[in-house]
Amino acid sequence: MSARKTITWVTMLALYSSISLAVEKGIDGKLTSLKPFDLQVVQQGEKVYQANCASCHGKYLEGAPNWRQRDENGYLPAPPHDKTGHTWHHADDLLFEITKYGPPAVIGDPQYKTLMPAYQYQLTDDEIIAVLSFIKNTWPEEERNWQDQMNHPDQGTFGHEGSGHKKSTLMEKLFGN
Ligand code: HEC
Repeated sequence: MSARKTITWVTMLALYSSISLAVEKGIDGKLTSLKPFDLQVVQQGEKVYQANCASCHGKYLEGAPNWRQRDENGYLPAPPHDKTGHTWHHADDLLFEITKYGPPAVIGDPQYKTLMPAYQYQLTDDEIIAVLSFIKNTWPEEERNWQDQMNHPDQGTFGHEGSGHKKSTLMEKLFGN
């Protein structure tokens, strides 16, 4: 394995473990849920998406080309939000916090290099919930059901300290592609 690959791998593992700690109530101590079946919310979310997110994440949620590869300055291109990405691997609350506070705050590393803005001063909480509900509404049933399991850490699935088999499924989904 090349040194560069090893570094990417280690960073991903570090990201993975800090994100898994951030599940449950996350950094703001509040559990936020999305509303993918509230069509009014979803419609509002689509507008928020096209106005604020589509420029990077793609009009059709398809993401930027080569989104898994950092550029020469160390930045990742915007990942897709459709089923080919990994947005659906994260619980509602984590998606909300990534969007509101930005990845560096969520992973607890202010030095983390990212192009993903923090939206806390640009969008209201309701607009953030709406845009993510729109994204969630577009996922096929299988991905949406799988993502829903992230929202119930108390049911022995991912997010619960020490939970077993779902965690390995997540590892496979995150890294096994
Ligand atoms: C300037 C480009 C840009 C804009 C605009 C942008 N993003 Fe991002 N976004 C990114 C990048 C780049 C990442 C990858 C994060 C990283 O650098 O590690 C990302 C990551 C994310 C993630 C985490 C996805 C995952 O799989 O972990 C979510 C959720 C997200 N963005 C939501 C949004 C939403 C919602 C909007 C609009 C309100 C938005 N983004 C606008 C660039 C952008």
